[in-house]
Amino acid sequence: MAIRIVTASGKGGVGKSTVCKGLGLQFAKAGKKTLLIDCDAGLSSLDIMLGVADKVNFSWLDIEADRCEIADTLIEVTENLTLLPSPKFIEAQINDSIISEIVNNIDEIYDIIIMDAPAGIGTGLIRAAKGASKALVVATADEVSVKGAKAVDNVLKQHGIEDSRLLINRYDVKAARKGLLLTVDEIIDKTMVQLIGIIPEDKNIVYSTVSEKALRTKKSDNAFSRISQRIDGKNVELTLSQIK
Ligand SMILES: Nc1ncnc2c1ncn2[C@@H]1O[C@H](COP(=O)(O)OP(=O)(O)OP(=O)(O)O)[C@@H](O)[C@H]1O
Ligand SMILES: [Mg+2]
Repeated sequence: MAIRIVTASGKGGVGKSTVCKGLGLQFAKAGKKTLLIDCDAGLSSLDIMLGVADKVNFSWLDIEADRCEIADTLIEVTENLTLLPSPKFIEAQINDSIISEIVNNIDEIYDIIIMDAPAGIGTGLIRAAKGASKALVVATADEVSVKGAKAVDNVLKQHGIEDSRLLINRYDVKAARKGLLLTVDEIIDKTMVQLIGIIPEDKNIVYSTVSEKALRTKKSDNAFSRISQRIDGKNVELTLSQIK
């Protein structure tokens, strides 16, 4: 049975899809069969971020509408990494259990399934969360994002996901030391969610979504690798000195 995780945040644009991609690549590299499910109906992004947008023919909505089988939707990104894309358009009345039903059907094939939820605490989050048993609550080091992280964690708990971990993204140690961003301790205190890891601010993450010229190996790769190992149950040290 696969480890099933949802990435969630209250505030938009904090890096959920980036985290899905970063962790997906690390798990795949480590030989884990990994499935990423883009749950952001109408605003798909993982297909573009993974460079496979031109291969998308069907989404999970087409499975429910009997327009295709699950296998027809799946896109091989790299060895061990598969994407299940989201619909380009939202049709009225999407079944809340659609993602969990698909996940239950293909759970045996994968080691890790990560569901990329839309921002916020609405039906899109619930639909993604129903397929998961664990959550990564993603936050950046600002008050609005942190407030959103706490709200999203509460909603996840109401829907039976007790196993949430906080992932701080775009962290800049120097700015936090100068008091320009919240510190890691402040974020943990305000969200009351246990920390799983910190991804540094890394300009190459943005560049790699636009240009082939961007560095293939990014300074955030090590942080993603450590978080993927922690998700896999390994005991990997977490210190601020690792974030540069
Ligand atoms: N660690 C990082 N360093 C620098 N830029 C980052 C980092 N993480 C994410 N970004 C950039 O932030 C932007 C938003 O990221 P992303 O699309 O992953 O957020 P999201 O939470 O999935 O957004 P949405 O709520 O719209 O789904 C992108 O331009 C991405 O490249
Ligand atoms: Mg996203």
